[in-house]
Amino acid sequence: MALQVLSVASEAVPLVKTGGLADVVGALPAALAPHEVAMTTLLPGYPAVLGSLAGTAKGKRKPKPLHEWPSLLGEPARLLAGTLGVGGPPLLVLDCPALFGRDGGPYADPAGRDWDDNWRRYAAFGRAAADIGAGAVKGLAFDLVHAHDWQAAMTLAYLRFAPPPGAKVPPGVMTIHNMAFQGFYDGAVFPRLGLPQSAWAMDGVEYHGGVGMLKAGLEAAAAITTVSPTYALEIREREFGMGLEGLIRSRGDKVRGIVNGIDVAEWNPATDPALAANFTAKTLAKRAGNKRALEAEFGLAHEDGPLFIVVSRLTWQKGIDVLCEVLDHLVGLGGRLALLGSGDPALVAELEAAARRHPGRIALKIGYDEALSHRMQAGGDAILVPSRFEPCGLTQLYGLAYGCVPVVARTGGLADTVIDANLAALAVDAATGVQFAGVDYANLARAISRTVALYRQPDVWRRLQRAGMAADFSWKASGAAYAALYRELVGVPA
Ligand code: ADP
Ligand code: GLC
Repeated sequence: MALQVLSVASEAVPLVKTGGLADVVGALPAALAPHEVAMTTLLPGYPAVLGSLAGTAKGKRKPKPLHEWPSLLGEPARLLAGTLGVGGPPLLVLDCPALFGRDGGPYADPAGRDWDDNWRRYAAFGRAAADIGAGAVKGLAFDLVHAHDWQAAMTLAYLRFAPPPGAKVPPGVMTIHNMAFQGFYDGAVFPRLGLPQSAWAMDGVEYHGGVGMLKAGLEAAAAITTVSPTYALEIREREFGMGLEGLIRSRGDKVRGIVNGIDVAEWNPATDPALAANFTAKTLAKRAGNKRALEAEFGLAHEDGPLFIVVSRLTWQKGIDVLCEVLDHLVGLGGRLALLGSGDPALVAELEAAARRHPGRIALKIGYDEALSHRMQAGGDAILVPSRFEPCGLTQLYGLAYGCVPVVARTGGLADTVIDANLAALAVDAATGVQFAGVDYANLARAISRTVALYRQPDVWRRLQRAGMAADFSWKASGAAYAALYRELVGVPA
């Protein structure tokens, strides 16, 4: 019998995405299916998610609720069923119009400001998820609950401190996709969470006098994972643990790093419908068509030098401020840059100033565009990922799959997935990219210089591209690792 797992998250492709979390949550059900794990995903009922349910029912009939909560932290809510994409894996949707029926992103209003009741939105989400996970909804039974990031973390706290009456509480896995976002709120919200006073404890939801949602989930979890082995080690230290390093250390080797895979059907340069020219490792010359198309799309000069790309949230985490500092250097070496991203207005302004200084050499698209991100990986020569920390990172993996050589900071998943083009690695054709340690002007500038030098040796460059494209970044190994962890916790032999 397949293991029944409830995956709880605040975003998942193809319905709602602000970052890599959505790629991973969307890919997990298919990654687990070959391992006798049946995964159902629970999402909040944002307008786009509810809209997809109407699509599933072909607009003919309204979906019938599986369950109703007269008062979920004070608001009426219902549980609806659908699929994650047309013909996709099973989906549950928490329809609670007062909390999730809003325009804007999942976490912020249309102007980009975080909703000030996010604590209540995601506490209610966790409360409902705990009820569902513990079998309070007729017809649904789960062996294990898997919560992703702080927005889902309260699920495990409710299961621990306030399970539905008479429930058999399933074990919980808490996955950290980013320690920088912890869901930390004023202690005044505690009485409104519907938790017993016993939860207000140092090993409960209390954190520095406030409510720590990720912390509460980590304390309640039977197992903690994060999205790369290096990040699993890094978060034991203050710089990366962001206050939770002590808790992580106290869990010893129970904190595992399972590296993310990519959806190799969605990200395959041989078949990708978004590209001007499809190609494989054997037909790399065809990439030139994509490069020309990309130059035209960004209004960049046609030149022989390397075309760097960036596809990123524009934030401090991603090192975009340091990127801005090195752009004159990059152009001075004969490089060009096409950047797609959105985020911090101050960084956008700096990037725009650089684009004005270097017309035809630096060009930007500020916004979010999934198809363009594919065309960039196919047409760019190298992708820059100068992150200060990176739990896993997906854009370097897409770059590897598309022959767009990654230039990455040696941290987190970037350290685990890119092999630096040092002499030893080049000698055995193992190198797949360029790594640098320490995100500052000098180190990034040196990495870009090294990259340009490698690019100017076409034979070496092609070997880098081919080695990257040959690497396996499918979910095969990581799907097996999650399945093994689930079985260990549930006590079912593999
Ligand atoms: P993070 O989740 O920290 O933002 P990841 O590298 O794990 O970083 O995932 C980012 C995901 O979002 C990737 O799928 C990337 O292609 C995508 N992405 C980021 N910014 C944009 C954008 N402006 N347009 C399209 N896709 C984007
Ligand atoms: C987070 C991290 C990123 C990771 C993604 C998916 O957004 O910042 O490094 O790839 O989650 O796990």
